[in-house]
Amino acid sequence: MSEPLIRAEHLVKYFKSNAGRIKAVDDVSFEIYPGETLALVGESGCGKSTLGRLIVRLLKADSGTVTLNGVDLGSLKGSALRKARQNMQIVFQDPFSSLDPHFTVGEVIAEPLRAAGVKKEERVQRVQQLMRRVGLQEEDYWRFPHQFSGGQRQRIGIARALAPEPQLIVCDEPVSALDVSIQAQILNLMRRLQAESKLTYLFISHDLAVVRYISNRIVVMFLGKLCEICPTKDAYEHPLHPYTRMLIDSAPEPDPDFDREDRMLLQGELPSPINPPAGCRFCTRCPYATDECRTVEPEMKDYGGGRLCACHHPLPQK
Ligand SMILES: Nc1ncnc2c1ncn2[C@@H]1O[C@H](COP(=O)(O)OP(=O)(O)OP(=O)(O)O)[C@@H](O)[C@H]1O
Ligand code: SF4
Ligand SMILES: [Mg+2]
Repeated sequence: MSEPLIRAEHLVKYFKSNAGRIKAVDDVSFEIYPGETLALVGESGCGKSTLGRLIVRLLKADSGTVTLNGVDLGSLKGSALRKARQNMQIVFQDPFSSLDPHFTVGEVIAEPLRAAGVKKEERVQRVQQLMRRVGLQEEDYWRFPHQFSGGQRQRIGIARALAPEPQLIVCDEPVSALDVSIQAQILNLMRRLQAESKLTYLFISHDLAVVRYISNRIVVMFLGKLCEICPTKDAYEHPLHPYTRMLIDSAPEPDPDFDREDRMLLQGELPSPINPPAGCRFCTRCPYATDECRTVEPEMKDYGGGRLCACHHPLPQK
């Protein structure tokens, strides 16, 4: 395989709360390769968005490192850091929740270019080009985001992310708020843009049908820890980690070819991220849990073929 675009090593992020420290991301290491779509999946609250924000440095990690093209982002300052940050953009579920509603669509998309010091004339030209690429009309430049539908707003969010010509886009539930038919349009747009611009995506989602369609590899996260990293096909056809299997089996629209007789459904509540279970964090919900699982934290092991899994008793392989 080629050199990774992103290498995350031992990332940790805890949040303070009245009840104690929330262990949102707790010693997470993984790589993102150029040109791939890496999906990040897991139940609500398991730390996906926090991890995505750590990667693009919207959040600072308590400890651990992120390297971009082999350069430690923590070692960069000033213009070198600004440049690196432009190389990593993020698309949110609702791209406008955090933006000034008085900005026109054109201004919203142009903002990262303005910040990068691109002159007005060139900015307008580049934004209009971008708008065409994502399926918007040039005259939309002067309209306001609230005048657009959800799907169009996501096209605007994608154009804004593309503006600084990044290598990586972190997509945090980009289609979760959209109707299924609109979802498909946006996913296809993302695929086309990826092919045209050699983009790399970290695609955060809890919709496993979408993930299966869009991703090449998958990272499964539970309560601040990674469980399994593998090619997408392997996760669906013969996962190693019980949580991967149960997450996929519990999805509302499982594969129609899947033998429903032996579906393994997720049970029990998500434990508290403030006081996670000792040993394996999944042990309170896992049907295979042993005393070892309840005391010794499983390490990530390499099973070959790009498959990594952190479990004392991985699922038998056919
Ligand atoms: N800024 C914050 N301050 C305090 N706690 C936070 C903050 N951001 C996230 N958390 C907590 O950290 C944990 C992980 O949250 P995160 O948003 O990363 O999960 P997620 O996997 O993205 O969930 P979802 O699927 O619901 O988006 C949760 O317990 C959440 O409440
Ligand atoms: S380590 Fe043990 S408890 Fe955790 S997933 Fe594996 S078998 Fe289940
Ligand atoms: Mg989230």
